[in-house]
Amino acid sequence: MSDKGKIIVTGGAGYIGSHCVVDLQLAGYTVIVLDDLSNSEIGVLDGIAAISGVRPVFHQVDICERSALRAILKEHRDAFGVIHFAAFKAVGESVEKPLAYYANNLGGLLSLLDTMSEFGLDNLIFSSSCTVYGQPAELPVTENAPVQPAQSPYGNTKQICEEILQDAVAANLFRGVISLRYFNPVGADPSALIGELPLGIPNNLMPFITQAAAGLRTELKVFGGDYNTPDGTPIRDYIHVSDLAEAHRLALERLINKEQSSAYEYYNIGTGRGSSVLEVIQAFERVSGIRLKYKIVDRRPGDVEQVWADTTKANEILGWKARRTLDEMAASAWAWEKKRVESRE
Ligand code: NAD
Ligand code: UD1
Repeated sequence: MSDKGKIIVTGGAGYIGSHCVVDLQLAGYTVIVLDDLSNSEIGVLDGIAAISGVRPVFHQVDICERSALRAILKEHRDAFGVIHFAAFKAVGESVEKPLAYYANNLGGLLSLLDTMSEFGLDNLIFSSSCTVYGQPAELPVTENAPVQPAQSPYGNTKQICEEILQDAVAANLFRGVISLRYFNPVGADPSALIGELPLGIPNNLMPFITQAAAGLRTELKVFGGDYNTPDGTPIRDYIHVSDLAEAHRLALERLINKEQSSAYEYYNIGTGRGSSVLEVIQAFERVSGIRLKYKIVDRRPGDVEQVWADTTKANEILGWKARRTLDEMAASAWAWEKKRVESRE
């Protein structure tokens, strides 16, 4: 495997970060993972090593702690840049604990940017979210759609982080910054050696489905059956986490190959196809052979009716396209859940 250079990944022990680390290592990059393990487990590194054949260098650190971060970035100042996943991400929790979300998500980014600029690390990829669009007026939503007022402190942190990045690039503090606006990441590596580790009762649809199928949850609730959609349930653009991981590598390669001028760019990262909640349930039933018991209940406050991505910009400029189907997403999520159930027995 050729060494294509060193990349620092914050939050690399987490759900999306771990899949990105696998993808980068398989492509020949040397990866340095920074994670405080506040929402992940050290055993993830074993999974990454088993899949990619390489155990990444790991530093357990809270990126908000500047002196500790400084020592690590100083050691790895020869890296090309940083992929920044580390953040808190639970929408409901952010409503209850807004200050913790602002402190970690904004404080973490500011600490990282300051320290990066000190050591001449001037390329960054940032995890943003389609939540910035709210309910778009036109679908599929393009990057030209206006950013809507955030529905939660979590969503607000993503918007503010994007603004901070834009201003930092405008001031020529960084050479290249790309925000990737993820739609709904689901699924797991086909090996089932890494995947999502939701804490407590999952809020998101796919982990709730797999836990219900595994008998860990009694009732799957479908939040709203009276939306203005073909089957009455909300529509989202679910994207396989391995496709999402590849998007980071291609964004990184755009920064590596681009000319020296400073620019802030942002891209939608979805499949370009919308699926309703009932379609996700049907896909899961198809691939697992399990019939799910579910009940249609009231709408969940704050949910948008429908959103899916126009991915033309990422397709044309990054040369990236999602390849995996909804059935592959459901099957890999199920394989991962079954593996976790076996390991608990
Ligand atoms: P995750 O919680 O699985 O991963 C985040 C990782 O960051 C965890 O391992 C956690 O321990 C670590 N972390 C958090 N704060 C830290 C800190 N201060 N210092 C060091 N490490 C810290 O979440 P994920 O689903 O992999 O999400 C990754 C990123 O993508 C987040 O920024 C999230 O907001 C964003 N995002 C996620 C989704 C999604 O549906 N999962 C959608 C849109 C955007
Ligand atoms: C949510 C967040 C979004 C975040 C994303 C990933 C909200 C309003 N949005 O998106 O900001 O980026 O998670 O973490 O919280 N559903 C059910 N039953 C369930 C769970 C979900 O019917 O038990 C439905 C929801 O109503 C929604 C769809 O499934 O229509 C997807 O829900 P979810 O996985 O939580 O993602 P989002 O709401 O799209």
